[in-house]
Amino acid sequence: MTVPTPAVAPRVNPLQRIWLREIGMERLWLRPAPADARAPVAPQAPVSKPVLLDSGVAARAPDAPAAHVNVSGQPAAVQAPVAAVPPAAVPPAAPMPAAASVAASAAASTAAPVAAPAAVATERSSGRPGIPASILNRTGPPPRPVPKTAEEEAVEAPRIPVAEAVKNANLDELREQVVACTACGLCQGRRHAVFGHGATPTRWLVVGEAPGEQEDRQGHPFVGRSGQLLDAMLAAVGMSRDTDVFITNVIKCRPPGNRNPKPEEIAACSPYLMRQIALLKPERILVLGRFAAQTLLGTDATIGSLRGRVHTLKTEDGSQIPLIVSYHPAYLLRSPSEKARAWQDLKLASRQI
Ligand code: URA
Repeated sequence: MTVPTPAVAPRVNPLQRIWLREIGMERLWLRPAPADARAPVAPQAPVSKPVLLDSGVAARAPDAPAAHVNVSGQPAAVQAPVAAVPPAAVPPAAPMPAAASVAASAAASTAAPVAAPAAVATERSSGRPGIPASILNRTGPPPRPVPKTAEEEAVEAPRIPVAEAVKNANLDELREQVVACTACGLCQGRRHAVFGHGATPTRWLVVGEAPGEQEDRQGHPFVGRSGQLLDAMLAAVGMSRDTDVFITNVIKCRPPGNRNPKPEEIAACSPYLMRQIALLKPERILVLGRFAAQTLLGTDATIGSLRGRVHTLKTEDGSQIPLIVSYHPAYLLRSPSEKARAWQDLKLASRQI
């Protein structure tokens, strides 16, 4: 068949050129065209990234100041420590809530498929009799599908956003959700997701960072050396995980090598902690370590500036839970001289009942 040679060659991109070469039409089609007679190029639609994880996170962004955090993860407007706080210790309001920025980064990294740019080959005419526009406008051979691993399938399977799924869950349902969670990559390396353990009803909620090796093996929080010290500290103020205290972590799965959790992992996991707080309604929250304190309070402030006073965590139903920051037991094991300060923190927490 003879293809009529066009008077004016259309504008093609390099991929189209390769394709035309492959189908033997390059010479016929790519004669230079006058600059003012080029075929119009279809506009590209903007790439949109639907947000998958709508987490109720109170995690910190690099510049986010301390703020009250409510149970849905939104930092509240003001921070009103119970104890006297020097004004300089209360940073100004954040231009953007830490929660929002972390959730956004989580969405970007774990979100559902990105919408493809609008195809160049829309059903416009090729302008070439006998040549379908779909051939003329193709940008290359169809991509070959790459088979996914089972883990990738699990992580990428369509799922309900964690923040949605937890909304009406009771504690048992929440535990099941955590155990089956695939909201971030940490699920791939874990032996057990560690939901938390302790007394219900709960007087104190103790929040650590993330499971370590022993916790990952056993599926319970604070069961290693840090846990023994924690139990001793709690016993010193008459508290026990069997009768008074529920213990959990910001992150429910062990980060490899005990590295710090990433913002997207915090964003994925935080709705579980927020729902735990809403369900357990503890009288007091004791936050252990810089990481957990900064995450829950949405701040970059040092632990030295956060401990020694009572913060407030605002819940969805409007109640306010006193929150006390102290050192992580693992740090106290390395720096025993700081135990005296941790003791002060425990007494401060006890006084708030
Ligand atoms: N460290 C934590 O922060 N949490 C645990 O559960 C154990 C060690």
